[in-house]
Amino acid sequence: MRIPAFDLTRQLGELGDAIRAAMASVMETGQFILGPAVAAFETEVAAWLGVEHAIGVANGSDALYLALKALGVGPGDEVIVPAFTFFATAGSVVRCGARPVFTDIDLDTFNMEPEEALSRVTPRTRAILPVHLFGWPCDLDRLREGFSGPVVEDAAQAFGAEWAGRRVGGWGTVGCFSFFPTKNLGALGDGGLVTTRDADLAARVRRLRVHGATQKYVHAEVGINSRLDALQAAVLSVKLPRVAAWNQRRAAIAARYAAGFSAFGLGEVVAWPRVPAEVGHVFHQYTVRVADRDRLRQHLAQHGVETAVYYPLPLHLQPALAEYGEGPGSLPRAEAACQTVLSLPMFPELTDAEVDRVVELVAAFYGKA
Ligand SMILES: Cc1ncc(COP(=O)(O)O)c(C=O)c1O
Repeated sequence: MRIPAFDLTRQLGELGDAIRAAMASVMETGQFILGPAVAAFETEVAAWLGVEHAIGVANGSDALYLALKALGVGPGDEVIVPAFTFFATAGSVVRCGARPVFTDIDLDTFNMEPEEALSRVTPRTRAILPVHLFGWPCDLDRLREGFSGPVVEDAAQAFGAEWAGRRVGGWGTVGCFSFFPTKNLGALGDGGLVTTRDADLAARVRRLRVHGATQKYVHAEVGINSRLDALQAAVLSVKLPRVAAWNQRRAAIAARYAAGFSAFGLGEVVAWPRVPAEVGHVFHQYTVRVADRDRLRQHLAQHGVETAVYYPLPLHLQPALAEYGEGPGSLPRAEAACQTVLSLPMFPELTDAEVDRVVELVAAFYGKA
């Protein structure tokens, strides 16, 4: 049995006709840049997330850049980011001419550790940029209590995640999402979103995504060209009403993995996510920390199970970002995570039998089957 880490074709089997029809209707309007499909999706997604403003942009990386730019982040500013995340989190800060300040993570949640993040605030700190990594919402209340400036949520991996009943993206000053095809809400190409309750900030992001134009060919400031594609917006409108059910299925898969690992007595060699009741984790990834990671990964691959390592190198040790960090050993938990994490197959269409097979293979590797 071959078990992929992620398989979009299974979802397209079920939704293909609806998606083709939605794309055909955009083709009939002839409006491929912004226009009614993008406006409709922005309205629907703002309501779904419970925010006043949602601005469709070209990808999640630009969402972060535009959010920071709209907040006025620039040279001389510092932005606190976790060291264990995708590159774009800190890349966006550098694109603004500011300095990323790396902070360590909590190994249980993989998220920025709030007290340590707050201890890195200086008079130059312009924003804190927490990431809801793998779909686990970060403790934004603690960050907001301890820091009065803007909190920019990198919610690229957390569409629909909740904390105490509140969806991420509407909780910080501004939220940034990615619709990369593998995301919980994924397009058939690139896409991204900026969300906020602040009307002025929303207007500035709208302007910055069209080269800072206030009207056609009149530019108030220098922005970029970064719009959500109309065809992708139409695809996303088809998928949006299904995301809650998909996220529930992801949680059920996570619970099945956890029950399986527990039944095989794997607690000493596999640290699986143990999510408190008030945390609405959406399991963009099902990431565990394991002993002898690379050999386990090889064993699973030999039996047809695809896995991934998100992420093998922390940001402070990335060649492009090392100048902002303090070198090996400076952020030990992020570095330890890079050596031990393994993301197991996770997507809503994964079957129970496939989950059980992965668990059995893991148990067999540790001699517990
Ligand atoms: C945490 C995080 N931030 C930002 C991004 C950037 O999103 P995109 O790939 O749409 O530019 C991603 C997605 O890849 C991500 O996982």
